Amino acid sequence: MNAPTPPELALDLAPLWKPFTANRAFKAAPRLLVAAEGVYYTSHDGRRILDGTAGLWCVNAGHGRPEIVAAIKRQAEVLDYAPPFQMGHPVEFEAAARLVAHAPAGFSHAFFCNSGSEAADSALKIALAYHRARGEGTRQKLIGRERGYHGVNFGGMSVGGIPGNRKAFGQLVAGVDHLSTTHDLEHNAFTRGEPQWGAHLADELERRIIPLHDAANIAAVIVEPFAGSAGVLLPPRGYLARLREICDRHGILLIFDEVISGFGRLGHAFAAERFGVMPDLITCAKGLTNGSVPMGAVIVREGIYDTVVNAAPAGAIEFPHGYTYSGHPLAAAAAIAAIGVFEREGLYARVRELEPYFESAVHELRGKPNVIDIRNLGLVAAVELAPRPGAPGARGQEVFLKCYERNLMVRFTGDSIAVSPPLVIERGEIDTLFETLGKVIADVA
Ligand SMILES: Cc1ncc(COP(=O)(O)O)c(C=O)c1O
Repeated sequence: MNAPTPPELALDLAPLWKPFTANRAFKAAPRLLVAAEGVYYTSHDGRRILDGTAGLWCVNAGHGRPEIVAAIKRQAEVLDYAPPFQMGHPVEFEAAARLVAHAPAGFSHAFFCNSGSEAADSALKIALAYHRARGEGTRQKLIGRERGYHGVNFGGMSVGGIPGNRKAFGQLVAGVDHLSTTHDLEHNAFTRGEPQWGAHLADELERRIIPLHDAANIAAVIVEPFAGSAGVLLPPRGYLARLREICDRHGILLIFDEVISGFGRLGHAFAAERFGVMPDLITCAKGLTNGSVPMGAVIVREGIYDTVVNAAPAGAIEFPHGYTYSGHPLAAAAAIAAIGVFEREGLYARVRELEPYFESAVHELRGKPNVIDIRNLGLVAAVELAPRPGAPGARGQEVFLKCYERNLMVRFTGDSIAVSPPLVIERGEIDTLFETLGKVIADVA
């Protein structure tokens, strides 16, 4: 049963404790990637694998972009590291300026960290610090959403709503509540684009959550514009706008976690623009450096930085938060280069152009065995399969493994298969992707 370590790699697999992985099964039959270019990986056994997931929703401009590689190399040679606390370096300032200019109008400052998880926790702390600076320090409660994913740190895990990610770690952050998920197959199965049903689900904030906790105690609501990790759950038309209105009425900050939706996935730099709804804070990571160097950021609306900073005595550290690698020179250089690629190549407009083709291609899978929903927006889609009786997730995992055997990388969450290719994918490759997925779904029946 135990497949030997690939001889050409001669690796000892034992010492590594892999994240979010079934370690024993993986080490028994490892899947290693040894190279990547464009929309293809090379696997350790020498196969060319079509990347249907842009890495882990991050390699939006495709793998191995020479401009980004060159920027990282150059930066490593000139300045490998500089402390971010009470010191600085030019590239972090340039990266912040580029990112803020890339963000929707009205966003003025960027705070750097190293991942989506850190961005979520940083955003929650900024929200708390902001209210405190305004003299509303009672606003401490944080509202997330069922099936939301905001990374794995304690704040993000607590506002997150994926049961399996929480249950082993009982001691979560207190003072958290959750909105209901918007995912509803009874009303919205096989919707193309934004679901029509469900905007009213936002009203739960005003009907249940605000009366229960009192708005004077609530700091922020954090949601992904569309939930990615939970299986591509799209917001009903008008839902986000209603959340915005309710937050405004009650002085609650609205945070969009755009770790997945940022940098073009929905055909705009940020999903906020696609939906025409502006949050107060945006978290991002992943595509920020095209996946090349770890980096995350919180981008804040005008007024938030000034409020926090001006409330502190002159000379004091206004926001006691940050990371050794905040604004790391290599990450900052990679971000500047990646944003340059997105802008120069018009990749977001390309997504808008490709979207109808991608949508038709994924909906061709309707009618395949066990397919109970297909949903899509921009260049992201999910095909949801009926769970096997008594074995939820088994069918999804099998589809993932069989796709990999057939040289295609997809992602599975339970029995939902998510597809989010690099934005540079060609039409013919979209065909191959969905043909392969369709065959595998039929086989796995
Ligand atoms: C919406 C969202 N927030 C946060 C994270 C966590 O990001 P990271 O894995 O970089 O910590 C993710 C990762 O998928 C995500 O999708």
